Amino acid sequence: MEQLEPTLAAIAAADTIDAVEALRVAALGKQGWVSALLKSLGGMSPEERTSTGPRIHAAREAVAAALSERRAALESAALEAKLAAETADLSLPAPAAPRGSVHPVSQVMDELAEIFADMGFAVATGPEIEDDWHNFTALNMPETHPARAMHDTFYFPDQDAQGRSMLLRTHTSPVQIRSMLSQGAPLRVIAPGRVYRSDSDATHTPMFHQIEGLVIDKGIHLGHLKWTLETFLKAFFEREDIVLRLRPSYFPFTEPSVEVDVGYTLVNGKRVVGGSGDAANGGWMEVLGSGMVNRKVIEFGGLDPNEWQGFAFGTGVDRLAMLKYGMDDLRAFFDGDVRWLAHYGFGALDVPTLSAGVGVPVGVRA
Ligand code: DAH
Repeated sequence: MEQLEPTLAAIAAADTIDAVEALRVAALGKQGWVSALLKSLGGMSPEERTSTGPRIHAAREAVAAALSERRAALESAALEAKLAAETADLSLPAPAAPRGSVHPVSQVMDELAEIFADMGFAVATGPEIEDDWHNFTALNMPETHPARAMHDTFYFPDQDAQGRSMLLRTHTSPVQIRSMLSQGAPLRVIAPGRVYRSDSDATHTPMFHQIEGLVIDKGIHLGHLKWTLETFLKAFFEREDIVLRLRPSYFPFTEPSVEVDVGYTLVNGKRVVGGSGDAANGGWMEVLGSGMVNRKVIEFGGLDPNEWQGFAFGTGVDRLAMLKYGMDDLRAFFDGDVRWLAHYGFGALDVPTLSAGVGVPVGVRA
């Protein structure tokens, strides 16, 4: 019992909750000295037990009471300190009210809608949970087509009522089919929206944004496509010196297919869209896929390809935003970091209009 006084003194002197806890374990824990004394009662004679028992119990009570008193005192001191530290200084000016901002992806989609609306395009939408017929088959990618494998598709385990595999759309191109089937021809639509692929690094995220364009009419040819893309890119980048380079390419849904490069100029080591890519300090970068709509796709859209022709194009909205506004890591777009949003976001009242900002220069209007 000689441990009682030193234990009570140590408890009174303990200055942290952890120290109190260590003392509790040393006394009342399984291996503690009080517990050991309590266990020794079993081996005592009844007389010994009658005289020693109450003293051991009293010691246990005294230690437990001292522990809880010390713990309460330390806790209330900690609370006092916390309250003192958290005092609000009411004489300080009020902090700035948090202000939301428009995400660059939303801003760019609004800019694109504004630019294409001026050229007579309506905005069309389709479901993000698509079936493989709209996403692939009707776009001239039959089941065995190698391009299907290239799309890193997220599939759902179930099929729909018509036995079609369900998936997260891998591109906005299925909206071409949906628009033809629901609206017929002639047709002029853009379809901005989210698309999904199982891919992730600095330039790829599993969800990203595309915009699709589709024109179906009579006598449409590549010249219409080139004029439209040039007009769009000049309006989007808000400069006249946009130079395009069309390269032959392959997409199952267009024939012929072209990839569109835009010329850039190196300014302080950064690529700035504008100027010929063949210039000494310039280069070309790919910005769009496009082409004349494949006859088979027009048929899948319920139209007669002998009567109707068209062109289509598709591009990444996030990439366009990066090029125009100078961000270099795509992943930051979807981190939700308020500092990034405060830096790159747009004011809610910064609505893009052709007259203020997103302007089709007068010289290129039809
Ligand atoms: N769907 C294509 C992709 O995701 C992009 C594309 C290319 C769309 C050519 C088109 C087109 O409409 O004509 O890679």
